[in-house]
Amino acid sequence: MQDKIRQIVAEAREALEKADNTAALEALRVQFQGKKGSLTQLLRGMGQLSPEERPQMGALINAARESIGAMIDERRGALRAAEREMQLARETIDVTEPRPFPKTGTMHPLYKVQDEMIDVFTGMGFDVAEGPEVELDTFNFELLNLPKNHPARDAQDTFYIEDNMVLRTHTSPVQARTMQTRKPPFRIVCPGRVYRADEVDATHSPVFHQMEGLAIDRDVSMCDLKGTLDAFVKSVFGEDMQTRFRPSFFPFTEPSAEVDMSCMACHGKGCRVCKGTGWIEVLGCGMVNPKVLDMNGIDSNVYSGFAFGIGLERIAMLKYGVNDMRLFYEGDTRFLEQFR
Ligand code: DAH
Repeated sequence: MQDKIRQIVAEAREALEKADNTAALEALRVQFQGKKGSLTQLLRGMGQLSPEERPQMGALINAARESIGAMIDERRGALRAAEREMQLARETIDVTEPRPFPKTGTMHPLYKVQDEMIDVFTGMGFDVAEGPEVELDTFNFELLNLPKNHPARDAQDTFYIEDNMVLRTHTSPVQARTMQTRKPPFRIVCPGRVYRADEVDATHSPVFHQMEGLAIDRDVSMCDLKGTLDAFVKSVFGEDMQTRFRPSFFPFTEPSAEVDMSCMACHGKGCRVCKGTGWIEVLGCGMVNPKVLDMNGIDSNVYSGFAFGIGLERIAMLKYGVNDMRLFYEGDTRFLEQFR
């Protein structure tokens, strides 16, 4: 029986050395130490021994059991460490490996133009002012010399919210608000969304953007207006651009003018873009109507001023050669990514 025990221990040692993973090791543990294992079988066979031999044999079997247990534990420790090594090697991440760049958003062309224009005007001493998009009829029309039933109101297809409340049809109401809250001299530009009940097409949208300008001081003249807007056109479209001022009409300015710049497509020679004239219309402007100054609490005997209104979509279309305004609103990334 002693030989048998020694043989089992030797077998176990040999088998354990060959076990190369923890699963195989567990199978061996069952084989040698489990309920049906070889040592357990020997213990069962002890009934045939004499009472003197039994304790001696029992002690031997238990010692064998313990030594096999110790070998298993040792082997398990070694295998676990090796398996962990392998797992770490397999899951190593190479943090230096190059990868494709993630897609990032881009500045929207309209706001790019808006920012550039703000830069130009703040460079000439203008502040940025803002006003509400839901506006009182009073500010949107009345205080700009557009009384109720004035024919010029029809030119702007207004969205009414209530009798005396509209979605602003232009950024000009910020003029009235600023005149009422600030003491001259001041110069402001007001960028923002405006609304008109227009059908959508390549050059119309019920929501679009304008930038209003207003400068009030003593002795402001048409010269200041022309110099300011000429500098604006040259900054945004290039130093070689020319401007010309054509007489026009707006109720809030007197005199009023429309500004053309030389066609950026043909540099004034005449082409399809400018319909052969060499000129492109860019904005409306004028000297603030003295009536408007007085209605808004500024003494027209002391102060004068100029104002202008610029359509942002128009400037962006001309600057980037975009021929359909809808592209600005559709959010197609193939279009937008070109302004990166
Ligand atoms: N408010 C005008 C419009 O929406 C644009 C405009 C023209 C604004 C002349 C002005 C101005 O301040 O002086 O058509």
